[in-house]
Amino acid sequence: MEAGWRDNIIGRGNNDSSEGQLHPRHLGTKSIEMPRINLCKLSDVPFGELLAIRRDGYPSLVVAHSEIGFSVLRDNCTHEDYPLSEGAIVGDLVECPLHGGQFCLRSGGAITPPAIDSVERYDHEVEDDQIWITI
Ligand code: FES
Repeated sequence: MEAGWRDNIIGRGNNDSSEGQLHPRHLGTKSIEMPRINLCKLSDVPFGELLAIRRDGYPSLVVAHSEIGFSVLRDNCTHEDYPLSEGAIVGDLVECPLHGGQFCLRSGGAITPPAIDSVERYDHEVEDDQIWITI
């Protein structure tokens, strides 16, 4: 299954093609294949910036490069579904531009009202200067 997202980076051109890889996960006694998805190159997300990632059939994601390194979150503020990728990094938090709700980039936890519910955070891997997630 191919699942490269690099052509879907919002706001930056990227003509490199990338093959998705399958990553086996073992659940109980069954082994299932989960898609391992290339999101972007490390250099696509300079320090202090947010990068929106879009791909049909997958949730909208945002890659953040903060003082804690790279983080991958769902790109939806849980207060009113506003894209966090349009916000700003404040230390190890991402701040929603609409009402100022803040989320922890380590956990996705809601830190500052009006955000109450956590935003989904994805574990990622860095390999060959690329950021990957498995979903
Ligand atoms: S929509 Fe994000 S804080 Fe309100």
